[in-house]
Amino acid sequence: MRLADDEKAMRDGAEGPAVAAAMNLLVRYGEALGAEHLCDTRNVAGTMTQPSPVKERLVREGGWPKAFSVINLDSDAEFEIPHMRVPTCQLQHGFSDDALGVAPYPASMVDLQADAESFYGAHGVNILATCTPYQVGNLPVRGEHCAWMESSAVVYANSVLGARTNCEGTASTGAASLTGKIPCWGNHLAENRHGTHLIEAEVPVEGFLDWGMFGYFVGDLVQENRPVVTGSLAQPDLTDLKHFGAATASSGGVELFHLPGITPEASTVEQAFGGPPPHRLVYGARERRETYELLNSQGSSSDVDFVLLGCPHASIDQVARAARALEGRTLTAELWIMTPRALRTVADRNGYTEIIHRAGGRVLTDSCPAMSKSAPEGTRVFATDSAKQAHYLPAILGIEAWFGTLEECVDAAVTGTWRGELR
Ligand code: F3S
Repeated sequence: MRLADDEKAMRDGAEGPAVAAAMNLLVRYGEALGAEHLCDTRNVAGTMTQPSPVKERLVREGGWPKAFSVINLDSDAEFEIPHMRVPTCQLQHGFSDDALGVAPYPASMVDLQADAESFYGAHGVNILATCTPYQVGNLPVRGEHCAWMESSAVVYANSVLGARTNCEGTASTGAASLTGKIPCWGNHLAENRHGTHLIEAEVPVEGFLDWGMFGYFVGDLVQENRPVVTGSLAQPDLTDLKHFGAATASSGGVELFHLPGITPEASTVEQAFGGPPPHRLVYGARERRETYELLNSQGSSSDVDFVLLGCPHASIDQVARAARALEGRTLTAELWIMTPRALRTVADRNGYTEIIHRAGGRVLTDSCPAMSKSAPEGTRVFATDSAKQAHYLPAILGIEAWFGTLEECVDAAVTGTWRGELR
């Protein structure tokens, strides 16, 4: 891999041992990927504060510098950690104190994470603590090279914002935060951003439930390729695209999609493909029903113990809609809505949180049941409006899942019974 002069200087220790270790990691990583050079980035979204027993041990042995060296720089050496070189944010992590007494989650991990926030916050990591950093102030611009983790955030950044990032890992984002560099390959290169598959919706796709189902179908079909989707699509909003992208990245490994006329790199179908489009594939009534049945294939008992809304983390409009659906009602099952903490502040000011609490629900932040491997004690059956959460949580927690609209989920939380159906 060709290194620029500033990169050679970092590698050779001109900016200290931690930066040298970071550059060493990026060179090894880039060469393994076949990257020819590094690109500059001023936008890193990674994870440093997520607690774990391994991290707890490393902190006991050598403090946060040791944990960062081992986990975020793949190095056993011990050195002082400098201030982040470029803007860096923390994605979702474990539950915080708002979940104490609500989620069966160890208080020791909450404390460890709070300690991590102090350390990394002082080193320049912005604790956004969400899988949707684009909802709370981290909005890269078109063409901007980023180093982001979290599949649902990566597909949103590439597709909706036109930024450029691969799906990075804990170590590569750690190294990028200290160097402002990331291997230039994959989605960073224009020639790798054209569509590969054309999928046309022949049934209306409107509202985030249908966008989620459509995304789940598309991801399963194209796997790690780049779908271009057209057809009877209603004008999507942030929530629709958040659910569509997250679903494509769950049933498949989609990191970039195009919606001609809507997403920034595809004014037309031809532009999305960089030439003539391939043979079109169809999403019709049969495919929609099969997708719905697949997402509901992990539920057999209709007795619902737990309802989860907000995966990816809910927009303020979703929180408002949940509050409207819960107004004046009383829950029999547990209901959690996950949202970024910055948006929970808005929900508090608007009175949404109080309405949800009065019904018996919770507005939680920072994490989710899949991320923290934690649902209400005794949960056997849960319901969700998220294709991504329906995909992952049964495998993570060994529970049954129902998938349906936000209103059907609220109904299940009120009655304790799943009564959803495809309309
Ligand atoms: Fe976010 Fe958890 Fe879903 S991290 S994307 S709410 S699985």
